[in-house]
Amino acid sequence: MVESTLNYLADLAEKPYFYLYEPPPGTPWRNTKGDRRSVAIHDARELVPAPSLDEEGFLLTSHETSVQNLYDPNTVRDLYYREVEELVRKLTGATRVVAFDHNVRSASEAQRRENGAQPPVRFPHNDYTERSGPQRVRDLFPAHEAERLLRNRFAVINVWKPIRGRVEESPLAVCDARTIRPQDLVTSDLRYRDRVGEVYSLRFNPAHRWFYYSRMRANEAMLLKCFDSDPGRARFTAHTAFDDPTSPPDPPPRESVEVRTLVFFTALS
Ligand code: OGA
Ligand code: FE
Repeated sequence: MVESTLNYLADLAEKPYFYLYEPPPGTPWRNTKGDRRSVAIHDARELVPAPSLDEEGFLLTSHETSVQNLYDPNTVRDLYYREVEELVRKLTGATRVVAFDHNVRSASEAQRRENGAQPPVRFPHNDYTERSGPQRVRDLFPAHEAERLLRNRFAVINVWKPIRGRVEESPLAVCDARTIRPQDLVTSDLRYRDRVGEVYSLRFNPAHRWFYYSRMRANEAMLLKCFDSDPGRARFTAHTAFDDPTSPPDPPPRESVEVRTLVFFTALS
């Protein structure tokens, strides 16, 4: 177990927003304030039985990639997406898995300039909401196919993997989905240049139980569920990067890639 400070969302009267591009003159980048809380973050490697996607909302798996350069977006889309789809299919029993988006992240600014990577995200959030989960399916498929797919259970699962092991700083913490109450999830806008995405920001609740996988290696991957249409299973697994008090001095910066997948459980006829 380690202790760290997480930057929760402080209550505010308006709908929270975050700009992902330079906002119009006079508009702030975001209208939110942080609510910094010290929490215990438990090592999920010690959990018996191991966590699952349907109970806690996350799991750890071993995964060796054949992709040499995860910073190359074309190789990631052509090759790594296929590996991830197969991995998620195996672990969930889904009938169809479609990888559709990814981010590479580095805690080093120099590396970000060189590779076009993004920084770790240091506030607890969940990538999709009750509304934006199904919306993603409608964005990516023709209307008739989307409606057909949405008649059955579907989920959004992120596959998070270190590009270089082991992760010695800014690891990813995940919150046991069963400890998040609906009122802890605050619908928030992500303003992109060409569209507005909806995510949940997380409001503090002392019942939250946080986990991380200590010193993750490059041959491991964490799956986390960011949406499930089935209310009987884990649906929203909030997560955030955090400062690890047990990091060595001058640790190598964390480098990671996360791929988002649509996961369909269509009944086979
Ligand atoms: C994610 C995510 C943040 C990080 O994988 O969805 O928010 O710091 N990652 O890796
Ligand atoms: Fe996320």
